[in-house]
Amino acid sequence: MRWDFLLSKIYSCTLNGLDGNITDVEVDISNGLPSFIIVGLPDLSVKESKERIRSAIKNSGFEFPMKRITVNLAPANTKKEGTHFDLAIALGILKAHGQIDNGRLDDIGFVGELSLNGKINRIDGALPLVLALRNNGVKKVVLPESNKKEAGMVRDVNIYPFNNLKDVIEYLQADKEISHYIMESELEHESQIFYKEDFGNVFGQEFTKRALQIAAAGGHNVLMIGPPGSGKTMLARSFPSILPSMTYEECLEVTKIYSVAGELTDKVSLINRRPFRAPHHTISSTALVGGGTRPKPGEVSLAHDGVLFLDEVLEFKKSALEMLRQPIEDEIVTISRVRATITYPSNFILIASMNPCPCGYYGDSTHECTCTSSQIKKYLSKISGPLLDRIDMHVEVFPIKYEELTSNKKAKGSDEIRKEVQKSRTIQLERYSNESILNNAQLNTSLIKKHCKLGKAEKELMKDAFDKLKLSARAYNRIIKLSRTIADLDGSEEISASHIAEAIQYRNLDKKFWSV
Ligand SMILES: Nc1ncnc2c1ncn2[C@@H]1O[C@H](COP(=O)(O)OP(=O)(O)O)[C@@H](O)[C@H]1O
Ligand SMILES: [Mg+2]
Ligand SMILES: [Zn+2]
Repeated sequence: MRWDFLLSKIYSCTLNGLDGNITDVEVDISNGLPSFIIVGLPDLSVKESKERIRSAIKNSGFEFPMKRITVNLAPANTKKEGTHFDLAIALGILKAHGQIDNGRLDDIGFVGELSLNGKINRIDGALPLVLALRNNGVKKVVLPESNKKEAGMVRDVNIYPFNNLKDVIEYLQADKEISHYIMESELEHESQIFYKEDFGNVFGQEFTKRALQIAAAGGHNVLMIGPPGSGKTMLARSFPSILPSMTYEECLEVTKIYSVAGELTDKVSLINRRPFRAPHHTISSTALVGGGTRPKPGEVSLAHDGVLFLDEVLEFKKSALEMLRQPIEDEIVTISRVRATITYPSNFILIASMNPCPCGYYGDSTHECTCTSSQIKKYLSKISGPLLDRIDMHVEVFPIKYEELTSNKKAKGSDEIRKEVQKSRTIQLERYSNESILNNAQLNTSLIKKHCKLGKAEKELMKDAFDKLKLSARAYNRIIKLSRTIADLDGSEEISASHIAEAIQYRNLDKKFWSV
């Protein structure tokens, strides 16, 4: 060993969006004036680690070398951000300085932030970091104790959670291998998921409930229009309870997003139920679609594989609503950065609600609307156009009658509705197994031709509706897609006239409100 020049190499990982790449933390220690520099495109959060590392090493009972220390994060051409390199850098210094000497370090990946006292702190993005390390052939990962549950979701990698630097070093120096962390499967408890809001608690509203069931089955976006107090918010909040359960892959994908966004805690360490995000209308565009100086996923990505609920949608800034176009259309959001672009997934069901006019009572038989027609027109124009175009279903919600509210009739509960939804999803997954889509809402024009063939009577009905309701080509396609979902809920491979007739009901508000 040459004592004037020492080198060590430790594995860690760098994140870009939800994907990660192996990072070699190379440390070289040479004689000369004491210094400590980090190279390899570290951002401010990485540069700030120096003080933490220095103190953590000393406070764990080791010596911080008073020499020239150079840390290189390789490959040097990708930007490194985050505090999770601390642990690897500290171990690299101790190894290069000969204070720990064990070949075992070479096949372990390390991620973790250090405190001044040597404690290992929770980090953001632990799940995608561990996934990336595993995908690059790393079989063992040392990480913060409080990140162990999310990391435990990753298969084919051994997780070693630790609370402080001293214990990590002890583990590395010991002769005996310790047992790795095994997660008790929280995914298996899925059947016990309890929903506070259940369709069974909503009286009447059979039409809207049916519309929401179709939306859940086919992945369609819904706009609910109705006066205040008609139950729009209540219905939307019950919607997650009728969505099908998540697959392991979906849980993994969604948990990755929450991991990177820093939304996981010790208690909520993995996401095994479909997200329901209901941002307030004052939300900024960045918080809605993602971004920022250290980019984070926005609400559209936190709603991935679940629901984005925009209550009182017209209260949102027009600029914010317009930013929803890309995520709704492409099912991903792209965030531009100085050196690169980041993408996050954003495939959600949009549920929006609104009053029909500024006073709220246009079309209500029990209250008089005090708005002028030009006021109503101006009000509605805020959502018209591109966003409206991407919403398959328009549903008018009426306040329920006193008799319905007080009747003893038991409403169909969410469990039952969800079972039907699940069945129709299975049918769609099979039908589209050779296509790049998962559900009917994703059908494009050519796939509609292939998978939604109509018989003679059905074609005539569509022609009739097209002429009478003066449908646009887009509205025409929507009705076919909705008919496909209604047929699937019915367990029918053929789309029948009755399926089409029902689908048309969810498209006939265009004329009443927007006359398109
Ligand atoms: N169909 C219904 N069944 C039971 N309660 C209802 C129903 N519709 C409305 N409510 C009650 O009225 C309240 C107001 O409904 P809400 O969903 O806030 O209406 P909106 O959002 O349309 O203004 C709800 O919290 C609920 O208590
Ligand atoms: Mg409401
Ligand atoms: Zn009005």
